[in-house]
Order: sequence, then C-alpha cells, then structure tokens
Amino acid sequence: MTIHEIKISFKEYGALSELSRIEQKLVTKAENAAHKAYAPYSHFMVGAAILLENGEIIEGNNQENAAYPSGLCAERVAMFYANSKFPDIPIITIAISAFSKKGKVIEPVPPCGSCRQALLESEIRFKKPIKLILSGKKKIYIIENISSLLPLNFSNKMLE
Ligand code: THU
Repeated sequence: MTIHEIKISFKEYGALSELSRIEQKLVTKAENAAHKAYAPYSHFMVGAAILLENGEIIEGNNQENAAYPSGLCAERVAMFYANSKFPDIPIITIAISAFSKKGKVIEPVPPCGSCRQALLESEIRFKKPIKLILSGKKKIYIIENISSLLPLNFSNKMLE
C-alpha cells in the first residue's frame, strides 16, 4: 500500500495595492462585472475578468435561471466567451470577485468544481498556466495555475 500526499501552495495578500497594476485592473473589472450579474434567485453576484495573451480583457458574470441548473457561473460565462471570440489566444489570468447581499465577500470565492474542470480544459488546450486571482474583502489569493486546484483530474490524456 502506498499513501500519496498532494500539496498545493498559493499566495495570500492583505490589500489590492500589493498586486501589480494589471492584476488590480482585473480585480476591479471582475467587481464591475459582478454588479451586472443576473442572480435573482441566490442574490450572490459573481464577476470574472479574463486577461488574454493578446492583452484583451473579457468579463462575465453568473446568469441564473428559474430552472436552477440551467444557469451558469461567472467563470464559465467569461471563459466560453473568451474562447469563442478568440479561439487561438491563451487565457493568462482570471480574476474572480463576489458579492452577497451584505456586500463584497470577506473570504475569497474559489471557482466551483465544474468551473475548475472547464478552466483546466483551456489550460491544457493552450499549454499555458491560467493564474487565478480570488479577491475577498480582507484577503486576496493568487494561485499560479488551475491544475493545482484539481489534483487527480480527468483530462484528454485519459481518452488516449
Ligand atoms: N457562482 C459563480 O458564478 N461562480 C462560482 O465560483 C461559485 C458560484 C454562482 C452560481 C450561482 O448563480 C450563484 O453563484 C450561487 O451559487
């Protein structure tokens, strides 16, 4: 019997001013996108801002539906739009911000499992790590790639 251990590491910052200019811009864009979310059921407004290798920034937000599972998270709305508009351009960074009824979330909101899987596909497709910036009111996490958030993942390698 063998026990395997998987460790991940990520950076925590205490203020937006500690981030680079472009990272700060992405967080602001994610916040602005969150305010335009369609979330009449959960009242949880999420925004994502994606930086592409060509410098374009694509935003998205969660889109809910009366038939709940028909809605989609902010990350996938932004990512699918980015990949459909710029099919040959890798995603470099995604910033995610969320607001509950009480305002900006205290703890950074990480992408759900389905969004991790969808982002992983893009990371593998373009062979480029996708950096995540998760911003809460008091803390900001920077994670260098999506695959570290999805250990033992299912990918195209399994289909060979
Ligand atoms: N949501 C996102 O947009 N992204 C996440 O990473 C987590 C959850 C949305 C889905 C739903 O509209 C609402 O937040 C509550 O789950």
